Amino acid sequence: MIVRVAKQEDLTGVIEIDKLSFSNPWDREFLENISKAIFLVFGQQEVNGFLIAGCGHRNVSASLLKIAVHPEHRRKGIATNLINKLIEMLRDRQIDELEVIVLKTCEPAISLYKKIGFKLVSTIPQISKNNDLCVMKLEMT
Ligand SMILES: CC(C)(COP(=O)(O)OP(=O)(O)OC[C@H]1O[C@@H](n2cnc3c(N)ncnc32)[C@H](O)[C@@H]1OP(=O)(O)O)[C@@H](O)C(=O)NCCC(=O)NCCS
Repeated sequence: MIVRVAKQEDLTGVIEIDKLSFSNPWDREFLENISKAIFLVFGQQEVNGFLIAGCGHRNVSASLLKIAVHPEHRRKGIATNLINKLIEMLRDRQIDELEVIVLKTCEPAISLYKKIGFKLVSTIPQISKNNDLCVMKLEMT
């Protein structure tokens, strides 16, 4: 299981997974400029999954901005490994709270976050109920 910090050469693989996973993927320029974020990939030569997180106000909390695994490699523990590595990095930085905002209908992601220990803290209603958002938090103290 290899989780490592993303390199420039990983971007093509990341973009492919992003397109396969979301209807509104981020473009290359945005991904290149997200350098201040924590950007992790899973895999050696070939990228099987990625995670992007940002550290929030005064470094007391962090946000998991995006996580995706290639459809052919799901349910193998890759997302869990990526998040566990993120938690390790945040603990090293003395950050003890991790937040994620996720579509209420995104059951795989909600199950994943619950299994890791995230708790639902609030729901943000949207015009269409299908787009309601869940705010989930993991306390790492
Ligand atoms: C959500 C996602 C990242 C999970 O990645 P993954 O590598 O398959 O997840 P893991 O193998 O680590 O799964 C860990 C746990 O999460 C839950 N889970 C993952 N996928 C699930 C699914 N399709 N249905 C139900 N539970 C699921 C299970 O509890 C699973 O444990 P188990 O396999 O022992 O039952 C992946 O499905 C994905 O890329 N989806 C599209 C992008 C997305 O929705 N990202 C999240 C929003 S930002």
